[in-house]
Amino acid sequence: MFKLPDLPYDAGALEPHISRTTMETHHGKHHATYIKKMNAILAERPDAPNRLEAVVRLAKDEGNKKLFNNAAQAWNHGFFWQSLTPEAQSNPQGELKSAIEKAFGSLDAFKDEAKSKGENHFASGWLWLVADSKGELQITDLHDADTPITNSSLTPLLVCDLWEHAYYLDYKNERPKFLDAFLSKLANWRFAEAQFQAARSGSGTWTFPV
Ligand SMILES: [Fe+2]
Repeated sequence: MFKLPDLPYDAGALEPHISRTTMETHHGKHHATYIKKMNAILAERPDAPNRLEAVVRLAKDEGNKKLFNNAAQAWNHGFFWQSLTPEAQSNPQGELKSAIEKAFGSLDAFKDEAKSKGENHFASGWLWLVADSKGELQITDLHDADTPITNSSLTPLLVCDLWEHAYYLDYKNERPKFLDAFLSKLANWRFAEAQFQAARSGSGTWTFPV
């Protein structure tokens, strides 16, 4: 059985970019429901692994869509809370900065590509910055509950939730404004740097709390 992890900051800490109401609903209702539904499925599965990452991979391998959708959404949201920060941060530093410049040309070019992919993503899903096994970066948008942790050669560094529940109360249908806020004000580059270092060293990437 998995528990809803606490937010790593106060629900109102991301205002004015994301309102307390959005965070309380998103975390306390949407995320909580995915975990509750997953736990109900796992209650019938005494053989299930005790790490959420393993549950997600098992559900994918088995083609168990109901378990996959709820388990992957539980994991993705846990990762999303880490991808946001209320702290005014400097831009990416060090090796991550170099990798972004190598992959996209510049931080601004990265933001342009991320915004374009996020804007043009049809319906629900997630916008990911990932590193491959060579430490090279790419932006990928995945549909519905899909997650890069089922691909052993990819390590997620950051994610933005593209489901309407992530932004509709604050931005209505204007997803581009939400993406601007994410890319310019909320993205947790210190977390992404730590993920990138962990990916390169082969251990220590973020895992869902047990
Ligand atoms: Fe969400």
